[in-house]
Amino acid sequence: MPKITIIGAGAVGATTAQRIAEKEIGDVVLTDIVEGLPQGKALDLLEAGPLFGYDSNIMGTNDYRDIKGSDVVVITAGIARKPGMTREDLLKINTKIITDVSQNIKLHAPDSVVITVTNPLDIMTYVVMKTTGFESNRVFGMSGVLDSGRFAAFIALELGCSVRDINAMVLGGHGDTMVPLPRFTTVSGVPITELMPESTINRLVDRTINGGAEIVNLLKTGSAFYAPSAAVTNMVEAVIKDTKRILPACAYLNGEYGKKDIYLGVPVKLGKKGITQIIELELTGEEKKALDRSADTVRSGISSLNASG
Ligand code: APR
Repeated sequence: MPKITIIGAGAVGATTAQRIAEKEIGDVVLTDIVEGLPQGKALDLLEAGPLFGYDSNIMGTNDYRDIKGSDVVVITAGIARKPGMTREDLLKINTKIITDVSQNIKLHAPDSVVITVTNPLDIMTYVVMKTTGFESNRVFGMSGVLDSGRFAAFIALELGCSVRDINAMVLGGHGDTMVPLPRFTTVSGVPITELMPESTINRLVDRTINGGAEIVNLLKTGSAFYAPSAAVTNMVEAVIKDTKRILPACAYLNGEYGKKDIYLGVPVKLGKKGITQIIELELTGEEKKALDRSADTVRSGISSLNASG
């Protein structure tokens, strides 16, 4: 079986392990800095195997030597923003964690494809690429799959139709400046711009942009993990099964969309080697402007990192 490592056995990491095991995409190694946590959750998941009929092996560890030979590594390690903590504080703490995690991936799983989930996503994915030194095609982040999943869910609710027929497209950074693209969002091939008035679309776009915050406000003590884990599982599956699906992902741009040396959400083709193609959509002036705004935000995050060393 393919080997998938998940670093960070918290809400997103453990639920991703569960989804991967239930779909038998591969064997799972769950790691965390907290002793006992990955071991306990892994054992619990292993014991669910006979009940749900999956043969994936799941092991928990605090030792990076166990990630050797991983085909895919998913990074969910990090901390969430706590009351009183600024975005910059969070950026600093998670950069430290992600740097340490990346050094271990470089050392122990040098041939893996790495998918980042930790926020702030676009900046953390950049840190992973720079620290591991891996080719950019095998370092990318989970953002657009989640954001377009949320957009699709809201469209299905609005139209009273099946989520299966919806194909949503969201570009840009994973945050307030993401760029949902109604023109490229379809229901059985029909763009939603032909199915709903502009005011309705704008309302659904706003809800999508604030999708993460809506969940945090409800949960109060945590952030979303069911949809994020589903999104990253889809990406892991595309890589492991070499499906060549076209999905939005946080990818390294080297001239595409007129941008260089930055990670940003764009549609990509995903297979065994990671990103095999970046798909460049023909954007309108307004869509381009929104993507530029998004890129500016990500870039200022990256430069604040460089400035603080
Ligand atoms: N190495 C390994 N694991 C670590 C490290 C580290 N250096 N530092 C923290 N962790 C672990 C924590 O012990 C915790 O178990 O990362 C886990 C994070 O889990 P949660 O706090 O439950 O966070 P979660 O909701 O899973 O979100 C993880 O994904 O969607 C993003 O914004 C979210 O950045 C956050 C990440």
